[in-house]
Amino acid sequence: MAKPVDLSVDFCGFKLRNPFMLSSSPVSNSAEMVERAFEAGWAGVAYKTIVSDRLPIIHPSPRMNGYFGGGKKLLGVQNVEQTSDRGLKANLLDIMYLKKHWPDRLVMSSIMGFSNQEWADLSKASEDAGADMLEVNVSCPHMTVEGSGAKVGQVQDLVQKFTETCRNSCRIPIVAKMTPNITDITVPALYAKKGGADAIAAINSVAGLSGVGVDDWVPNPNVFGKGAASGFTGPAIKPIGLRYVAELAKCRELGLPLSGIGGIETWVDALEYLLIGSTTIQVTTGIIHYGQQIVESMIEGLSDYLASKKIARVGDLIGKALPNLHETHDFDLSRQGVARYDLDRCIGCGQCYTVCKDAGGWALDWDAQKRRPVLDEKKCLSCMVCSFACPVDGLITFKEMPPTYRRADTVTLGKGLEKQLKAKI
Ligand SMILES: Cc1cc2nc3c(=O)[nH]c(=O)nc-3n(C[C@H](O)[C@H](O)[C@H](O)COP(=O)(O)O)c2cc1C
Repeated sequence: MAKPVDLSVDFCGFKLRNPFMLSSSPVSNSAEMVERAFEAGWAGVAYKTIVSDRLPIIHPSPRMNGYFGGGKKLLGVQNVEQTSDRGLKANLLDIMYLKKHWPDRLVMSSIMGFSNQEWADLSKASEDAGADMLEVNVSCPHMTVEGSGAKVGQVQDLVQKFTETCRNSCRIPIVAKMTPNITDITVPALYAKKGGADAIAAINSVAGLSGVGVDDWVPNPNVFGKGAASGFTGPAIKPIGLRYVAELAKCRELGLPLSGIGGIETWVDALEYLLIGSTTIQVTTGIIHYGQQIVESMIEGLSDYLASKKIARVGDLIGKALPNLHETHDFDLSRQGVARYDLDRCIGCGQCYTVCKDAGGWALDWDAQKRRPVLDEKKCLSCMVCSFACPVDGLITFKEMPPTYRRADTVTLGKGLEKQLKAKI
């Protein structure tokens, strides 16, 4: 029988049974919800961000707007949800309950102060309620309370100051959650470290507009005739999340453990975040889309992957892709390739021919009798747009050409057309 693999990871001294956590959001809004998630297999939670009772929290309505691709595939979600509106006492009791009944799961209290004193009070109250860690939320991009959330996360001195306040108010590890709505994410992360953060979580939602009503001209979500840029999440932001986590992981001066967030729905998404440097991963929109049970296939998929690669521990995967991550100027430009067509599988739709003409290198001719593309390798730009348009998975792939290969000089215009144009000038 194959040896069992070890999915456990150590995050700031806490041993999680697997790297999978709920992120702070409606999916982690109460003890009942989180308990169901723990039963399903999630190893930890960043509980929905709690605040003091000083200011009432009222969520705009409607709270979310879906962003769909073809076939109603949910590519992202734009939300205007605020921090928890449940009241501090109710939330602290829930954290207490979770810690009492699920001692082996990581319960992180996500907090947001609207004053320095509130950051201190919420840190202490979270520790007293038994939270294992704090997540310092300086990253929500659409707070209705002015000067909070990402507005704080974009000002490095404030990131340092509030992290420091939390550090001086409790002893549990502090995870600072970063906004992606910034140029260089390592800057606030380094200031969080200066303030005493033990780890970094990234990313919170990306400020976006998921659409505009074409009849009423109101941007989405349409909150009674008004729209606003606000937090965009889900699969569409995964490339942004991966990039930021990689930048944090590569920053030697930072050197803190990372919790990766952004567009994770499958074990492959999670694996990619681990390979790029995350120790734990957190999920919201994947659960909004499919439910908490996705953790089962995440656990199964990651376990099977480890077994197939003969890797005993998931911890051995963390950061393994980083040595292969470079700047574009490091690429070996002497090596070139072209598109390769497996024409036995071609269905003759002609999509490749169309896009090669309209967006590629004019490298395809069309054999109308056979209904097949005919590739001139010399003209192929290896842009691969034909492979995006082809409905048959894996029919068009990339192949490297021998060092003697030279791409034709003029590729954007067919020679005949070039002559005609020259004649007209
Ligand atoms: C409806 C909604 C509410 C959220 N509320 C919070 C919050 O209270 N605190 C927080 O730190 N992040 C909050 N987030 C951000 C998520 O924790 C997470 O960073 C983001 O959704 C990206 O992950 P995803 O692509 O898996 O959804 C919220 C996200 C959504 C969609």
